Amino acid sequence: MTNANVLPVLQEEVVTRSRAVEQRVVGRPTSDGAGVKLTRVLTQALQRRLDPFLMLDAFGSDRPDDYIAGFPDHPHRGFETITYMIAGRMLHRDSAGHEGLLENGGVQWMTAGRGVIHSEIPQQEEGVMEGFQLWLNLPARDKLCAPWYRDFSAAELPRFTTAEGVAVTVIAGRSHGVEGAVLRETTAPLYLDLHLPGGEGFVQSLPEGHNAFAYVYRGEVTIGGEQVAAQRMAILGKVVGSDGVVLESDEPARVLLIAGQPLNEPIAQYGPFVMNTEQEIYQALNDFRDGRLAN
Ligand code: CO
Repeated sequence: MTNANVLPVLQEEVVTRSRAVEQRVVGRPTSDGAGVKLTRVLTQALQRRLDPFLMLDAFGSDRPDDYIAGFPDHPHRGFETITYMIAGRMLHRDSAGHEGLLENGGVQWMTAGRGVIHSEIPQQEEGVMEGFQLWLNLPARDKLCAPWYRDFSAAELPRFTTAEGVAVTVIAGRSHGVEGAVLRETTAPLYLDLHLPGGEGFVQSLPEGHNAFAYVYRGEVTIGGEQVAAQRMAILGKVVGSDGVVLESDEPARVLLIAGQPLNEPIAQYGPFVMNTEQEIYQALNDFRDGRLAN
């Protein structure tokens, strides 16, 4: 891996009052696609609370039976999917003619907009496959926009290390003055992967009105005096006057820190379609059935 995108810390983050843990969430084991075993961390019940985020799936297994079938052709409309591959190789193909190999540390950002039909198929028959898929809603006015997608290899993702030794990958948004791979105006997503060395903290400012959560995937962290263990999501409460979050860990830990500006629009979801009204869901189903979804 090259260090082409290792950037200096441009500015310190200042937080005078950290958010607190409002709720700890244990993911729900499920399967999706052609039988890929995964853990749904952000479920439909939390879509309102964590608006503009619709779903977070964590997958991680060294048993090929858990992942080998992958996700054959399936549609999406009305939102964005962000797939972050920690370990493994997955081939993506879609109806717009895009094709890309997502591997170790890479991110695929796909804006489904008015419609994409794609497949996500593992390119390995053994070894560990681990990663995350986050669904980010689109504002009503952009739900039928033209589809867009981009693959970022690990080397292309902006990253920096704080003075305290926390290694940060900025998938979206801005941290310490470093601009992420993707910026979005309306939902203003922040998506950081934090590797804490242990014994040090990490400080991130957050706008007071944004919804935020942290998902710990190695070790454990402390937020506002509350411990959050591995495989737990902490919803970060909006304490009045809070201006960010401080995470601390005694031992090495890895955490996704995710935040965004709520859309406060109606959410109508049917499987891989997320629109604002039931009528728009019927339209999506009809378009898919008639072969018009991805044209
Ligand atoms: Co998909």
